[in-house]
Amino acid sequence: MRSTPLVPVMLLSLLACSPSNAAAPVPTARQQPPVKDAGAPGIGDRDFPLDGNGGYDVAHYGLNLAYDPKSKHLAGTATIQATATQRLARFNLDLSGLDVGAVKIDGRDVTFSRKGDELTLVPAAPLEKGARFTAVIAYSGEPKPIKDAGNLGIYGFVPTGDGAFVTCEPSGAKTWFPANDHPADKARFDFSITVPQGLTALANGEMTKPPATASGKTTFTWSERHPMVTYLATMTLGKFELRQGKTPAGTANLTAVDPKFHSELNKLYTTSGEVTDYWSKVFGPYPFSSTGGVIDDFAAGYALENQTKPIYGGFEPDESIVAHELAHQWFGDSLSIKRWRDLWLNEGFATYAEWLWSEHKGRNTAETIFKSFYERGATDPMWAYPPGVAQPKDLFNESVYTRGGMTLHALRKAIGDTAFFKLIKDWTAGHRYGYVTTQQFIALAEKVSGKQLDKLFDAWLFQAKRPTSW
Ligand code: TRP
Ligand code: ZN
Repeated sequence: MRSTPLVPVMLLSLLACSPSNAAAPVPTARQQPPVKDAGAPGIGDRDFPLDGNGGYDVAHYGLNLAYDPKSKHLAGTATIQATATQRLARFNLDLSGLDVGAVKIDGRDVTFSRKGDELTLVPAAPLEKGARFTAVIAYSGEPKPIKDAGNLGIYGFVPTGDGAFVTCEPSGAKTWFPANDHPADKARFDFSITVPQGLTALANGEMTKPPATASGKTTFTWSERHPMVTYLATMTLGKFELRQGKTPAGTANLTAVDPKFHSELNKLYTTSGEVTDYWSKVFGPYPFSSTGGVIDDFAAGYALENQTKPIYGGFEPDESIVAHELAHQWFGDSLSIKRWRDLWLNEGFATYAEWLWSEHKGRNTAETIFKSFYERGATDPMWAYPPGVAQPKDLFNESVYTRGGMTLHALRKAIGDTAFFKLIKDWTAGHRYGYVTTQQFIALAEKVSGKQLDKLFDAWLFQAKRPTSW
């Protein structure tokens, strides 16, 4: 499921108009020689030209997976149901490493080729615009995580001592399944994950039947019935202790911890339930069918808002980070960004949620926290980085989080609490399970408050300096 593709029309017309005496451009992966009716190798996010793909819209991923932590071998079959959004003589999926075996579309053999992380499928006959099709891709091998040269560290499918820690933001889903790997194409997911007996495989959504064990292996089936972006998908597995039940308000709650974090199980379960219920009052109804959290023993030192099951990498999460990850279930997971530069709509909101939680608990107010950051001197790097345009080489800069959160506090002060909290609820209700942009948020803020807010958003989101008036 996705909205209008963000086709870089400007780039295409620039190429078309280049003077004939200009040196012929050397075809690169970004700029392949045109093939008639080929789906684009990227979804149209100009900051990440090869992320996602063009020409189709995925509705469902059925992932049948078996992983053996000893050999680190993954065997998978991905069944991808999609609709062609143009005539397709070929199209791409994103897949990093792994060996592709048989590929079929609607039961017919498909030829395929690979280049970098692009897997190109050539169906027996072109798919017509509007056609629904099912691609089945068999693949296997040793999944390799992505080692980001910037500040992301290691992410994607990360093998651990007893299994795997799977956290895929921004583009690590392709390390374990063929995907349209960009948040602008959400889909529903079903997982069937087979692991050695004694281990637990955790994925998004809810278990659809009890785990089944045969010949020393156990199969777990999970279903995420709500649309989900690929980077939120997980198949984290290993030794886990589980606690299952309901939040006080009645949402299903599943919490799992590596035995090393045994003493944290009840605390994480209780905190996740309490936070989920509180955010449901502040942000609007909880968007998914279950909540919870996972602590694995991989010392990532970070957390990720995996849909329905945020994951904490090798540490005991405090209330603040649980508040952050569960706020993402609304901001990032239910409402997803169409392009990475708008990331403050995820991280600024989740950071502001930490401050709201602190205020709710009678600790520091959001105002006090805002002030402490605002006191940072004019030369602090946060002021040089406008959070409204997350930079491809430094997406998760502190400014996107903290100055993003400050933007929301400046807005709250400018429009007052009543309008601010109405805005937040209208925002989550109006775009539930959909896609959002910064411009849409600014427009809604002006509509709900009846105020001109250009100056405020410009100073806070788009200027490379410390805001002084807004
Ligand atoms: N979205 C995460 C957070 O703020 C941070 C993050 C980005 C991350 N990329 C990641 C975490 C990759 C784990 C893996 O909570
Ligand atoms: Zn976050």
